[in-house]
Amino acid sequence: METTRWPELRREGRELYTRNAEPGTKVYGETLRTVDGVEYRHWDPWRSKLAAFLLNGAPDDLLASPRSALYLGGAHGTTVSHLSDLWPSAELFVVEKSPSSFAALLALARRRANVLPILADAQLPERYRADVGEVDLLYQDVAQRDQARIFRENAEACLAGNGRGLLMLKVRSVTQRRPASVVVRESRAALVRAGLRLEAEVPLAPFAREHVALAVRS
Ligand SMILES: C[S@@+](CC[C@H](N)C(=O)[O-])C[C@H]1O[C@@H](n2cnc3c(N)ncnc32)[C@H](O)[C@@H]1O
Repeated sequence: METTRWPELRREGRELYTRNAEPGTKVYGETLRTVDGVEYRHWDPWRSKLAAFLLNGAPDDLLASPRSALYLGGAHGTTVSHLSDLWPSAELFVVEKSPSSFAALLALARRRANVLPILADAQLPERYRADVGEVDLLYQDVAQRDQARIFRENAEACLAGNGRGLLMLKVRSVTQRRPASVVVRESRAALVRAGLRLEAEVPLAPFAREHVALAVRS
């Protein structure tokens, strides 16, 4: 496996691996590999849109460790677990509204001190903004109709000046009726109107069809 500029990330061809913060433990059935006595977890781009984003050409400087991040739509913690591996000293606030997914997140958080789960609706950032404070990175992966509005409201509530944002836009959750290119253009425009600067736009196919990642700066 090749090293990368990030000590906790390794690559082998098109495969990504993160240094396992919990040696011997898998989070979602991923492959474990040990190199020079250090264990790594395979980061599956079919299960994690962030891995798909990196493999599809996103600038990897996005992986520079923030002091804190707000992650909306943590689900069972698949991607969160890799961020937890990558950023051992960051605080990762993870919002999830489904109680059953939240139970899995809670179990992950009990084993990983940098994961801070919040059972809440991402459409109501006023419920958790006091706990989260100001973060350097906002990440959103929720299949909701109004994804751009949710992202904007959370950025306004919690994102620091010159912070980074990553919206994993699920086009078909916005509408079934308009073409994907129009939905992406409208979502992009909504973020720009909110004062966010677009840094990258990366389609996530074939790993996540009809998903586009929009990376912004506040
Ligand atoms: C596609 S899954 C996220 C997968 C996860 N980001 C990963 O890569 O491991 C979307 C998640 O968003 C959650 N979700 C949907 N709407 C939400 C909302 N309004 N607030 C919080 N979570 C929400 C769902 O319950 C689901 O767990």
